[in-house]
Amino acid sequence: MARNYLSQRVTELKPSGIRKFFDIAATMKEVISLGIGEPDFDSPKPIIQAGIKSLNENQTHYTANKGILPLRRAINEHLQKLYGVGYDPEEEIVATVGGSEALLLAIQALLDPGDEVLLPTPCFVSYQGVILLAGGVSVEVPSRMENNFVPDPKELEKAITPRTKAILLNFPSNPTGAVADRETMIEIGRLAEKHDLIVISDEIYDRLVYGVEHVCFAALPGMRERTILIGGFSKDYAMTGWRIGFVCAPREILDGIARIHQYVIMTAPTMAQFGALEGLTSCEDFVQKMLREYDRRRKLVVEGFNYIGLPTFEPRGAFYAFPKVDVTGMDDETFADRLLHEKHVAVVPGSAFGPGGEGFVRCSYATAYDQLEEALDRIHQFVKSL
Ligand SMILES: Cc1ncc(COP(=O)(O)O)c(C=O)c1O
Repeated sequence: MARNYLSQRVTELKPSGIRKFFDIAATMKEVISLGIGEPDFDSPKPIIQAGIKSLNENQTHYTANKGILPLRRAINEHLQKLYGVGYDPEEEIVATVGGSEALLLAIQALLDPGDEVLLPTPCFVSYQGVILLAGGVSVEVPSRMENNFVPDPKELEKAITPRTKAILLNFPSNPTGAVADRETMIEIGRLAEKHDLIVISDEIYDRLVYGVEHVCFAALPGMRERTILIGGFSKDYAMTGWRIGFVCAPREILDGIARIHQYVIMTAPTMAQFGALEGLTSCEDFVQKMLREYDRRRKLVVEGFNYIGLPTFEPRGAFYAFPKVDVTGMDDETFADRLLHEKHVAVVPGSAFGPGGEGFVRCSYATAYDQLEEALDRIHQFVKSL
């Protein structure tokens, strides 16, 4: 094929650094994977039953573009109850195909070619790709372990140019597990106001916080009008395979978002909408139970890594630990590669998540407790053998 039929944008799109390791791990025996960013729990039974019931009742059709109204109402009530911020179910909420679609819609709705998005890194692997596909430019601002991987507002401000349109935040964070404190969030809010920026706040892990508050960005004074809030069910409700999430924004912005959704997706899966509604209505006990178990594992892995001699800051959210591995004299890619081949433990090199991730690896503790113990043992042996 002499001609490259792919667009310039797609040609520039790099494959995710996460996949590469999964593909290698899949060919090996007895691998313990700390690489996966999804709950090991199955979806709560009431959610599964609600999905099945919807199918049995022949809810097998398209829904309203924005999603079934009871779900949108439940999302509004949920946000009101937890964070004191509300959205009009008719005009300010769209049920999406996961947080992934919500992110794509937000970026597509905001960016003209050449518009810049401030991106604290290390960050979720999709962000740069989605910005690139919209013709936008990611302006990466690395955060550091000394600051518990919370971005420094002064450094963010230095990166602002006349083309900056938005800041993309993700707390609790994938890959670091960082949770930003209220003061930092307020300062970032001031920046957004001063430079008239939109904040896209990906709060997909909002319920997974350990002993600290989750600050909902839209709930900060004056921020609702300049925030696009992304939420989901994949992580909090262990529903990754259902493909359901949501996006909330002030009316004018949501109108643009809803138009894209209408043309590209039409509606989120009907069955998943009924499942998510059940999750919001009756599954708080399940969320709390999963949270307690993640917390137990979090303590195990953070203590374990520090004991092994891989300095690890205490993650306060999501289900990731981010140990520093360059203290072994290896870079993160080499560390992950050798650990996989020599001890059959899969972790993700931090550099896959952008600047600031080099020298670290991401380890998910959404894995059974005994598997984590075994993985820590193997990592310990590996580090000792160096
Ligand atoms: C930070 C973050 N945002 C969004 C997503 C997308 O999740 P989903 O599309 O399953 O809702 C993920 C998944 O890993 C994530 O880690």
